[in-house]
Amino acid sequence: MEQRKVVVLTGAGISAESGVRTFRDNGGLWEEHRVEDVATPEAWRHDADMVWRFYQARRRQLSEVKPNEGHLSLFRFQSEVEHVTLITQNVDDLHERAGCTDVIHMHGELRTLRCEFSHEREVRMEPSDLSDDFAYCTCCTHQSRMRPDIVWFGETPMEMTRIIEAVESCDLFVVVGSSGHVYPAAGLVNHAKHSGAHTVLVNLEQPANAEAFDEVHLGLAGELLPTLVSTWLKESN
Ligand code: APR
Repeated sequence: MEQRKVVVLTGAGISAESGVRTFRDNGGLWEEHRVEDVATPEAWRHDADMVWRFYQARRRQLSEVKPNEGHLSLFRFQSEVEHVTLITQNVDDLHERAGCTDVIHMHGELRTLRCEFSHEREVRMEPSDLSDDFAYCTCCTHQSRMRPDIVWFGETPMEMTRIIEAVESCDLFVVVGSSGHVYPAAGLVNHAKHSGAHTVLVNLEQPANAEAFDEVHLGLAGELLPTLVSTWLKESN
């Protein structure tokens, strides 16, 4: 039997048990900050210092958190099934630190910064890169200021062509830990359904787009994924 093609899309919920704050849960990031103040190109133009400090605090937090059972289960899945495309809305590096490879970060990454002049991105996680002082590029003769390598509201998510191709050609589409509020990520399940994939949701509570899924598992990703991945492995091999 031809091996199944799987796409997994993760959101902030898969990193919650690692201690990384989500956005829309109680105590989430958007409770303390107005999105328009810290996560838009206008915010960066208006008050780059505040935006920079918001992201530097999250970049510094990366060294304080580690992958949880949910991340490790997806690594097991990706290492034992040939075609598992992992797409994440998260900007942390926990999937990579769990061992996953070729992770598609559609909303950018905290580990990298982007030159404002050349738009080149580089990993900048040395201690000197994590202060509240702006960081400057190494790619320009006259060093340019760098910006967070994050897709802000109003900007285009990364690698959408590759993402749509993968979603529209998969047999199993799994979403883990996302509230289904933010598009285009929240609409990917409809692309998968339209292409005949079986769609599964793993989330702590009913998300906004719950009715689009064939199968819904409500609970903690770190508790549900180990068993679900074992089931999917049996079905795939
Ligand atoms: N296990 C599973 N699901 C969980 C857990 C957990 N331990 N903890 C929380 N959740 C669920 C919540 O119930 C919620 O539905 O994860 C979801 C997190 O939703 P959001 O905070 O909205 O995060 P996300 O869906 O990833 O946000 C999408 O919005 O602000 C932008 O760019 C940002 O990528 C982000 C995008």
